[in-house]
Amino acid sequence: MTFNETPPTARALLPLLGRAGEPAAEAGVDFPGELAPTADPALIERAAAAKAALGDRVFVLGHHYQRDEVIALTDVTGDSFKLAQQAAARPEAEHIVFCGVHFMAEAADLLTAPNQHVVLPDPTAGCAMADMADAGQARAAWDTLVGAGVAAATVPVTYINSSAAIKGFTGEHGGTVCTSSNAERALSWALAKGEKVLFLPDQHLGRNTALRQLGMSPDDCVVYDPNQPGGGLSARQLRAATIILWRGHCAVHARFTAGAVAEARALIPGVRVLVHPECGYDVVSAADDVGSTEFIVKTLADAPAGSAWAVGTELSLVRRLARQHPDKRIVFLGGTIAYCATMSQIDMPALTRALEQLAAGRAIDPVTVDPAVVPHARAALDQMLALP
Ligand code: 13P
Ligand code: SF4
Repeated sequence: MTFNETPPTARALLPLLGRAGEPAAEAGVDFPGELAPTADPALIERAAAAKAALGDRVFVLGHHYQRDEVIALTDVTGDSFKLAQQAAARPEAEHIVFCGVHFMAEAADLLTAPNQHVVLPDPTAGCAMADMADAGQARAAWDTLVGAGVAAATVPVTYINSSAAIKGFTGEHGGTVCTSSNAERALSWALAKGEKVLFLPDQHLGRNTALRQLGMSPDDCVVYDPNQPGGGLSARQLRAATIILWRGHCAVHARFTAGAVAEARALIPGVRVLVHPECGYDVVSAADDVGSTEFIVKTLADAPAGSAWAVGTELSLVRRLARQHPDKRIVFLGGTIAYCATMSQIDMPALTRALEQLAAGRAIDPVTVDPAVVPHARAALDQMLALP
């Protein structure tokens, strides 16, 4: 089974064929075509030279979805949880260069000392899911919970894929941050503290964790739509629910379907299907293994030679894993492309520029968090790091 890489020009034909993206659908966000070609080798040399000149003054972190040439220049790679821990554990590094997206760099800024300088090589590299919850919407949701008489019994839990302001809202109301690798512990902790959870912004991670890991039923969950008055829910529905899921999602992971899982099983004898928990409930229910990007990396590293895997997460990572493990059959789940366009904004020109500026002692804008938000956001992140 292979994925089809549609040339950018063919995309213009899609509306004529009645196959244009549906903006209202979760998978409506499309990334046309292929990533830009690998950088000029001269840039790789320049970036490596600037990094060597900086020595221990710089620490470079890279999320698993980064491009191969960027990954090659990192000191550590990981999922969001591991990278947050690693950023917090480097007090000696003057500059933390974060190859990832904005919420990850903000979390690093919250977890590092005030004299440390966190740099995102392309400061416009955001996360579309994180943008689905803003602090004004979260405050309005809380007012709705107050009006329904359930706020006092509700503990907010925010996925780390959220702005510092949302983390601040969460900390202010006694909640915690979670990642794809500790969502079960975070929800269990929150439900020991209160009766209900408001889970932001990824409805899929929240639902998958509640149903698959905590044994709840779909009836225990409601979906709060921040674009509807009162979230589109009645006070009765809010009172009856245990998990109030924010209506957010990752458009990259929404591209995987249960049909693709069935197709992989039909085409590849003995295949194991391994997916990220940002996929929909039907997909994770049909899969064999579900976990964070670090879990996916480790599972495939530990898999026996000759085993076959269909992997449902971002394509750059799946391709790298297929190249790293030629003794295993590793294919991308499904027939459509799933790149994270914003992760790929960190390219060699951006990384080289950042490292050369730092090596030359020139000012470069750091990622910083509004001081008014810092105490509560930091409390929510510290709570995550302290989860039992
Ligand atoms: P991980 O923490 O599993 O790496 O997930 C981050 C992410 O953004 C996945 O889309
Ligand atoms: Fe955000 Fe999805 Fe990209 Fe992850 S893959 S950074 S959730 S848009």
